[in-house]
Amino acid sequence: MNELRIALIGLGAVGRAWARLVTERAERMQRLYGTRLVVTGVFTARHGAAIDPRGLDLSEVLRAYEAGNLTDLSVHPAPADGGTFVDTCPADVLVELSVLNPQTGQPALDYVRRALRRGLHVVTANKGPIALAYRELRDLARTQNRWLLFESSVMDGIPIFSMVRWGLPAAEIRGFYGILNSTTNLVLTLMEQGASMEEAIRQAQAMGIAEADPSHDIDGWDAAVKVCILANVWMDADLKPTDVDRTGIRSVSPADLRAALDRGHRMKLVCRAQRRPDGTLQASVRPEEVPLYDPLAQTKETEAFLCIESDSIAPLALVERARATPVHTAYGVLADVLQIARLPNPIR
Ligand SMILES: NC(=O)c1ccc[n+]([C@@H]2O[C@H](COP(=O)([O-])OP(=O)(O)OC[C@H]3O[C@@H](n4cnc5c(N)ncnc54)[C@H](OP(=O)(O)O)[C@@H]3O)[C@@H](O)[C@H]2O)c1
Repeated sequence: MNELRIALIGLGAVGRAWARLVTERAERMQRLYGTRLVVTGVFTARHGAAIDPRGLDLSEVLRAYEAGNLTDLSVHPAPADGGTFVDTCPADVLVELSVLNPQTGQPALDYVRRALRRGLHVVTANKGPIALAYRELRDLARTQNRWLLFESSVMDGIPIFSMVRWGLPAAEIRGFYGILNSTTNLVLTLMEQGASMEEAIRQAQAMGIAEADPSHDIDGWDAAVKVCILANVWMDADLKPTDVDRTGIRSVSPADLRAALDRGHRMKLVCRAQRRPDGTLQASVRPEEVPLYDPLAQTKETEAFLCIESDSIAPLALVERARATPVHTAYGVLADVLQIARLPNPIR
């Protein structure tokens, strides 16, 4: 039996869904892959932390989290901060599921750095470290001969990164385009149905999709962060979100949407990255009118769409057809962990 010890940071919506998946799929993972996942430590911001080198019972962890404090489950004094937790938890893999800070990537960026320096593999769903420091982290992972995997950081666990890694060997990714932000896509869909932008945002908030402060989505920042991740990972770019030519949907009006429809088009917030003939990279996020027959135009509500262009196969498009949930995100994290269990030596 191949045993993988895991230090888990974050027991929010994704962390708890991940803990439940690990419990539900334990038998299947053992039977199919001979793999047993042992969570040796959990760290949170307001619910304490617990370390047990023999493995924590995840049902007890979830119960203790709901009750407000994990500390009683710890056989060692619980670490005072996340950095100490990363440095001391007996583990092979850090699963990093803490909060996103799109400006600094912190504290996740430091957790990921420390884990790689310590010689742990890292799996994260957090966009911050990958968008802001991918090159540094990738090189660190290479030096340490460890995996850095982040399948759920874009498109919620749909296996885009593993598809390119394993399915397009020695291919050059020349560009991609798509719709990668569900809040703005929903807002545009609702506005097309007659809502004002304010009403559409309120509706998206009531559905639990838009944040209380929706500006990160509405102004195109979330989409720009995702463009950075894809361009940096697939096209060896070194973009920061501020490098992306970015226009959000704030100035789009219902009248603009109706006028586009009259022309046989639909307005969408489209993400693009393209290698120019001179080798430089053009990356943008902006509202575009796309013909109604285009799959971009048919990507509605909270759906997502991504088309990848390479020098090896015809353009390949993927559609996320339903609203993603934290369980989907958690599944992508689990898939990354299982990849490490099955192939502990990274192949580049
Ligand atoms: N939700 C999704 O469907 C989704 C989709 C794609 C990617 N992601 C990414 O996945 C990550 C987790 O998302 P989520 O929805 O589970 O977030 P969440 O519900 O807000 O949970 C965040 C977790 O991180 C902990 N935390 C907060 N600050 C921390 C710190 N300084 N150090 C260590 N832990 C800290 C929190 O502790 P407490 O519980 O004690 O507050 C909580 O357990 C985020 O990076 C998010 O962007 C989420």
